[in-house]
Amino acid sequence: MKSGKRIGILTSGGDCAGLNAVLRAVVHRAVEGYGWMVIGIHKGTNGLLSRPVECETLDLARFSGELLRRAGTVLGTTNTGNPFAFPQAGGGTRDRSNEIVDGLRLLELDALIGIGGDGSLKILRRLTRKAGLPLVGIPKTIDNDVAATEVSVGFASAVRVATDALDNLQPTAASHDRVMVLEVMGRDAGHIALAAGIAGGADIILIPEIPWRMDPIARKIDDLRKRDRNFALVVVAEAVLTEEGEPVMGWIGKSRKNYGGIGYYVGEAIANRTGAETRVTVLGHVQRGGAPVWRDRLIASAFGVRAVDLIAQGREDVMVAWNARSVTEMPLGKVVNEPHRVDPHGALVATARGLGICLGDE
Ligand code: F6P
Repeated sequence: MKSGKRIGILTSGGDCAGLNAVLRAVVHRAVEGYGWMVIGIHKGTNGLLSRPVECETLDLARFSGELLRRAGTVLGTTNTGNPFAFPQAGGGTRDRSNEIVDGLRLLELDALIGIGGDGSLKILRRLTRKAGLPLVGIPKTIDNDVAATEVSVGFASAVRVATDALDNLQPTAASHDRVMVLEVMGRDAGHIALAAGIAGGADIILIPEIPWRMDPIARKIDDLRKRDRNFALVVVAEAVLTEEGEPVMGWIGKSRKNYGGIGYYVGEAIANRTGAETRVTVLGHVQRGGAPVWRDRLIASAFGVRAVDLIAQGREDVMVAWNARSVTEMPLGKVVNEPHRVDPHGALVATARGLGICLGDE
């Protein structure tokens, strides 16, 4: 009979600040606390397609101190390799899930910890069910759109970067009498835009959850001018639609499109309508880097420890979550089907309106 468990861990989907802090917490709890072995799988599920499987044994020596402070993931990750529809070199996709299941079996794991957003967790759930392997999920994404948790690892650090950008844009906006448009990431959710916009003193915030029109924006800029404000800060979430209701996207390679560029559309629309001199900053992937802020390190640590404890208790098919000031767990089935978007009637939207921030609708 085995004396200790052997657990696998992988990071999946887009990286973010705080992933290494999760890995560190898991290794501490599992190795020190329970005497288990932790196998770190490389490049998300892609590492499970290689033979031998691309992985390493994670021990405390790997996490000597500096990794807690570093963004990215030492394990590597992927957001393009859905094993159920794996992209083929010549175009099209192929189901490679059986190879992943074999890879998991080769590792002889007792459980898997998957760190991912809702898309990755959904895929991992299907895979581990097929492999008959217990799964505990840990939510991470700068977009903060995972359901059933107030926050995911990486969100706070991304908001910090976007808020810093507004701090940097404000003096140059004021010096040149300009309207500065900042486009931020977030996929289909406006959480980064709303949080950073409030924290960074934006005058106008556009999020995909609230359709916008040019009239209220022009009125807001006019109001500011009447009050001798010579500049304006505008935050636009990447998934905001054009006035014609179209998303602004660009091709990544030949088969995939990503959001990007609505900031330029909004900047030009504002210039045409108000005569203001506008400049546009598309913040992009810098939001995924930088040292994780204390809140991400804290949540990452709490999630990592709890995930291991859940495995020790024999729990599976759950995701750790942060709710009501505490780490909790939620059934994974509840999490993966509906992304969590900004509530247009929620507290932060009310806060923005209370501050006189224009959200493009009134
Ligand atoms: O989901 C995280 C995220 O950074 C989104 O905010 C963004 O739309 C997307 O990933 C970018 O993906 P990629 O890294 O493939 O460019």
